[in-house]
Amino acid sequence: MSKRNILVTNALPYANGPIHLGHLLGYIQADIWVRFQRMRGNNCSYVCADDAHGTGIMLSAEKAGVSPEEFIDTVNQEHQRDFADFLVDFDIYHSTHSEENRAFSSLIYERCKANGHISQRNITQLYDPEKGLFLSDRFIKGQCPKCKAEDQYGDNCEVCSSTYNATDLINPHSTISGATPIEKESVHFFFKLPDFTDFLKQWTRSGTLPTQVANKLSEWLDSGLQEWDISRDAPYFGFEIPGELGKYFYVWLDAPIGYMASFKKLCESRDDLNFDDYWDKDATTELWHFIGKDIINFHALFWPAMLKTSGFRTPTAISVNGFLTVNGQKMSKSRGTFIMAETYKQHLNPEYLRYYFAAKLSSNPDDLDLNLEDFIQRVNSDVVGKVVNIASRCAGFINKGFDGKLSAEISEPELTSECQQAAAEIAELYEQREFSKAIRLIMSLADKANQYIAEKTPWALAKENPQAVEVQNICSTGLNLFRLLIIYLKPVLPELTKQVEEFLNIPVLQWQDAEHLLLDHPINRFKPLMTRVESTKVDAMVEASKASLNTQGNAQDSTQNNTSENEAAKIDSPLANDPISDEIEFPDFAKIDLRIAKIIKAEYVEGADKLLKITLDLGLNAKGEQQIRTVFSGIKSAYKPEQLNGMYTVLVANLKSRKMKFGVSEGMILAAGEGEDIYLLEPHKGAQAGLRIT
Ligand code: MSP
Ligand code: ZN
Repeated sequence: MSKRNILVTNALPYANGPIHLGHLLGYIQADIWVRFQRMRGNNCSYVCADDAHGTGIMLSAEKAGVSPEEFIDTVNQEHQRDFADFLVDFDIYHSTHSEENRAFSSLIYERCKANGHISQRNITQLYDPEKGLFLSDRFIKGQCPKCKAEDQYGDNCEVCSSTYNATDLINPHSTISGATPIEKESVHFFFKLPDFTDFLKQWTRSGTLPTQVANKLSEWLDSGLQEWDISRDAPYFGFEIPGELGKYFYVWLDAPIGYMASFKKLCESRDDLNFDDYWDKDATTELWHFIGKDIINFHALFWPAMLKTSGFRTPTAISVNGFLTVNGQKMSKSRGTFIMAETYKQHLNPEYLRYYFAAKLSSNPDDLDLNLEDFIQRVNSDVVGKVVNIASRCAGFINKGFDGKLSAEISEPELTSECQQAAAEIAELYEQREFSKAIRLIMSLADKANQYIAEKTPWALAKENPQAVEVQNICSTGLNLFRLLIIYLKPVLPELTKQVEEFLNIPVLQWQDAEHLLLDHPINRFKPLMTRVESTKVDAMVEASKASLNTQGNAQDSTQNNTSENEAAKIDSPLANDPISDEIEFPDFAKIDLRIAKIIKAEYVEGADKLLKITLDLGLNAKGEQQIRTVFSGIKSAYKPEQLNGMYTVLVANLKSRKMKFGVSEGMILAAGEGEDIYLLEPHKGAQAGLRIT
């Protein structure tokens, strides 16, 4: 098979706050994939940089009393330290505030302009007259125009979740100076995204994106794209737009261009890499972007459109990760679950986290929960209990009884060969970014290896004769199984692998090493490899995260990132939602019998201001009789009865009937939201009444 040439990028973290565990999810995911590709013998470059521009960074620097350049330099070093700690192996970690990036940003802009895709017009925005600065939504606070809650941001209310324009806020004030903003006009430049609608409809459906994401984008594409505001007025920390005095590129214009700039910089120091091979419009190499789900529109709409028109290649694929929650809830400073990379590292081994993420990651942008109890359990039982344990059970006998030499023969060839054969399937799962499935398969092999050793009881045999050939064969088989497991886990646990390579006295492991076994081979003395996760350390980390509440002043800003400045539609971020409830066990969930039901009648209820009376068809029961239910549902403010007739929805079918003022309600139908913003759940078309939801 010929070698693939792959360039992987990771979203560029903002240079105004520390790396936290939420960030790390995506970086660890990409790093595992990159390490896997390298083990397979592919050429895989992995680039990243700090996203160093924008108002937020300008203000943070000012607050810290240093120049923006100094500020971003310090943060850049901290970020590099954190990524190195978590074994994220970038080939280069650059900055968007670089000459390479300035050159590419200007070039791409000039080409967009030459092709007629830039427009300009006056817009009115809120302006801080004291600070002399136009204010984006996150720098304006006031009273929510709807529920009147105090202290809400300029784009949406965290209390009632309504969205509005900053100009609608009651008593608005600038969060920078406290001044009352005024409205002010200025010229802005726009990228004419609608020109690319047809191209994007085709591009987003060409296998470049997870289906879930492509579907979401279709909604945006169908409802019509809008021109994208790519300029900001001075003062702004960024690149001035060529030929436009006092106008700067919006941070999100030059941020993805930072991928090119980083790679360009990398090429300078590497003879084996050529920039055009990776970015020319006819390039045959692969370009993969790994990003979080909150920044899809920037990568899957603006970015390919800009690349297309400026004569560069478009990405091969975009991999999207969901958001991290901790203990089932949004990360929270007061609960101590807003954990910085650095804080984690002071208490725990980064490879624990890499393993836990891998064990839960898939190729879909689903949110991932770091449940700290489960984390301890999982790492201890899998990595320490199942994998490392094999080596610690077998190594001593080889070291002591056989002068550290593995036998020339394997005592259980079926098992070692089964384990070798699994390489292809595991590789395919890594390739598809189905890491949790890969880990499950690897752990099932580890179970078999442990079972084998438990059955053979080498310790009992060694007690009688520590030099019995059988002992050597069994333990050599065990260590060979262990070696195979380590090959498969290497992309996830590179540091552990390094120790194992030393212990087994072998060169750096490659994927194809699974094709052969380690026979008649001297190994080194065994040293303990990975210790158990101690819950006291996890507790200490949580306490330390609570304690850093005040010292990490801008940590919050880094999660409420610049995406609120985003002009296109957003994919909901869990950060904006209610916290997730406490975890339940599956059997608790399984008690709820959810069924698809068809609404056959909906009517007003005399005297009720919130309720509608709804009659539902639940399909036929076992005897072939039609099952009809009546429920009262509080959805009157959002639906008229005639809208509901014939609609399918979801019924909690085994909820005890309740006698209400207006009659008996036999179950409950499912809806999300409150008040006028209530949404009845509807199954995908084709679902029949009576189907059980599993
Ligand atoms: N600077 C932009 C990206 C520019 S890419 C050309 C940005 N920076 S960020 O620091 O806010 O986020 C960096 C990455 O971390 C993004 O992929 C983002 O989605 C991801 N995450 C940030 N918080 C996260 C969680 N809580 N959970 C999972 N991923 C998270 O966006
Ligand atoms: Zn409100």
